[in-house]
Amino acid sequence: MLDKINKLVEEVKELSAASAEEVEQLRIKYLSKKGSVSQLFEEFKTIANEQKREVGKVLNVLKTQAQEKINELREAQSSTDQSASGMDLSAPGTVLPMGSRHPLSIVKNEIVDIFARLGFNVAVGPEIEDDHHVFTALNFPPEHPARDMQDTFFIATNPDVILRTHTSSVQVRFMEKQQPPLRAIFPGRVFRNEAISARAHCIFHQVEGLYIDKNVSFADLKQTLLYFAKEMFGEETKIRLRPSYFPFTEPSAEMDISCTLCGGKGCNVCKHTGWVEILGCGMVDPNVLESNNINSEEYTGFAFGMGIERITMLKYQIKDIRLFFENDVRFLKQFESAY
Ligand code: PHE
Repeated sequence: MLDKINKLVEEVKELSAASAEEVEQLRIKYLSKKGSVSQLFEEFKTIANEQKREVGKVLNVLKTQAQEKINELREAQSSTDQSASGMDLSAPGTVLPMGSRHPLSIVKNEIVDIFARLGFNVAVGPEIEDDHHVFTALNFPPEHPARDMQDTFFIATNPDVILRTHTSSVQVRFMEKQQPPLRAIFPGRVFRNEAISARAHCIFHQVEGLYIDKNVSFADLKQTLLYFAKEMFGEETKIRLRPSYFPFTEPSAEMDISCTLCGGKGCNVCKHTGWVEILGCGMVDPNVLESNNINSEEYTGFAFGMGIERITMLKYQIKDIRLFFENDVRFLKQFESAY
């Protein structure tokens, strides 16, 4: 009997299996009730008592070895099954490519943030507008040549359905709803019928601002815009106000900042003047206050408006406005920001 056992011990050592099924068959062959190991246990009952001690020991060793071998084969099989099905449970997950914010959104959020620190709220309004909100309530008389300056898109047979040319229309809607003190900025998309070039587009974005209260002065306007320029372009930035004309402000001005590229020494960006224009502004014309039911004897205010594209181009030294609208990821993914 010892011989038989030793033969089986050797046999079990050499076992191998190519599939989970084969492992199961081996288990049946050796370890099931009728399996060869179990058979030996039956035979064991019949041997002489004095042999039992010795034979029993080897027989038990055979049994554990057979069990261990089968378990080992089973485990090997389940891991090969996994890789055969293309799954590696230890592999790291697929990394999803992260998008980045559009540069115009980054700069818009930054502008909103700067003015929020001065107590300005944000208000928005419709892109499809009427003549009243875009022109008449802003002191553009009918037939006034300043309407031409705005290159309006008329989008219906009804000439009163237009695309807004500036977000000043939202200022009007804001004044309609609330009495002063008012302090808000108005970001949004605007439309002008202009030829598309490296410097101009028929769709662009603005942030306009409005502050109306008792005793608001031009000095307040200047200080607010100086704060904005320094926050946006750096502490060393200087500003300059040049007289200008808008129907809705009087007096009106255009604001330049010291060139962000050469710091005022003169370069291509500032056309060797040291200054670049970034916005229009002025004291709200009393006619505008009155046509929006605000008492112009009691209240004064200032307004300003800037193009987000222009600010972004200066900040990031982008030479062509069309890049903002082409959705080329090679351009877009260069912008990453907390905003
Ligand atoms: N609405 C003007 C524009 O679009 C900008 C502006 C706003 C100027 C407010 C003065 C005051 O060009």
